[in-house]
Amino acid sequence: MLKGKHIIVGVTGGIAAYKTATLVRLLVKAGAEVQVIMTPSAKEFVCPLTFSTLSGKPVISEFFTANTGQWNSHVDLGLWADVMVIAPATASTIAKMANGVADNMLVTTYLSAKAPVFIAPAMDLDMMRHPSTTRNLELLRSYGNMIIEPAEGELASHLIGKGRMEEPENIARVISDFFAPKDLAGQRIMITAGPTYERIDPVRFIGNYSSGKMGYAIAEEAARRGAEVTLISGPVSLSVTNRSINLIKVESASEMYRQCVDLWPSTDCAVMCAAVADYAPETVATSKIKRERDEVPVIHLRKNRDIAAALGQTKREGQILVGFALETDDEQINAIGKMERKNFDIIVLNSLRDKGAGFGTDTNKVTIFCADGQTRPLPLMSKSDVAKEIIDSITAFEHEA
Ligand code: C5P
Repeated sequence: MLKGKHIIVGVTGGIAAYKTATLVRLLVKAGAEVQVIMTPSAKEFVCPLTFSTLSGKPVISEFFTANTGQWNSHVDLGLWADVMVIAPATASTIAKMANGVADNMLVTTYLSAKAPVFIAPAMDLDMMRHPSTTRNLELLRSYGNMIIEPAEGELASHLIGKGRMEEPENIARVISDFFAPKDLAGQRIMITAGPTYERIDPVRFIGNYSSGKMGYAIAEEAARRGAEVTLISGPVSLSVTNRSINLIKVESASEMYRQCVDLWPSTDCAVMCAAVADYAPETVATSKIKRERDEVPVIHLRKNRDIAAALGQTKREGQILVGFALETDDEQINAIGKMERKNFDIIVLNSLRDKGAGFGTDTNKVTIFCADGQTRPLPLMSKSDVAKEIIDSITAFEHEA
């Protein structure tokens, strides 16, 4: 997405400036042309040579070069940029940008730029929540700038709170996502992911090996392409990187059922990627089941409701339902049978036989079957590439329908 893109990286005088070196590296690696502009105080934190080496271009900081008198045109720079990112953005620069105080090369270029602007604030927690900072950020937002919210955590002051500049990898991803085609804009997509845990007693559960990686990858891809995404996730050790994703955490199949059934009527497409437990203990012991000397406890199970089938039964015209199948024999026949039975429009058949496919891996090998008879067998690929193929199949199906 960033190949050949002209990016101005504005660096201001905050300790997080050291992280911007990584950001520049990532952007250049992704094929972008990067021009770094530093405020005078940024140079107290990181020396310009670091940025000029990483970007392959001299850093600009002053309005003109002292020894030659060469003028650095903020107007030309502003027009050159496809996108501008200020990282870190200090309270002072944020205030100047909000109020048009063009007393340095960075703010002057910002005022001349026609390109979209991302701002990644970084400051101490009290500065961050000061009413003037809040108001200035609001103003900047109202001008159409995009704020990359700082994260919470330990700050340079050793205080803990909101104010850490977002990690360079995430800033680079946000910029790259900005250039991604938004073919899912205006669509509401719900995705289930991960396993479910069915409680036996306060310390034990029935679960499965699902890592949630496939469902999370689909959620990220859909959000990247502009969809409004709700991810209903069982217990996993993953987090979402795209902050626009609405993450709902659940534990059991019945909790997942409730969330899905509630959301389904206002959803355009649902992708049922979770490995939902088919059975749950009939009763949950209120205290830990003790080990008895002779007796082996018996756990009576009851059937969980099939979430995907419930959505299939209430599917209305225009809604798309995508399911997954994990079969060990007669894979194709079983997958297509499941698609028909559960009223899916698309079913993704996971291969368990192939190395690198299935639970916990970062890769997967799937075949996508559509209700219109189309079949797409795919080679082993990363789960994010599989996610892209699944979303492509959904959009292709929508266009045909
Ligand atoms: O019948 P089977 O469990 O193999 O079907 C798998 C598909 O159904 C997957 O898409 C899975 O997420 C979904 N499913 C569900 N609720 C269940 C069981 C399966 O949504 N209780």
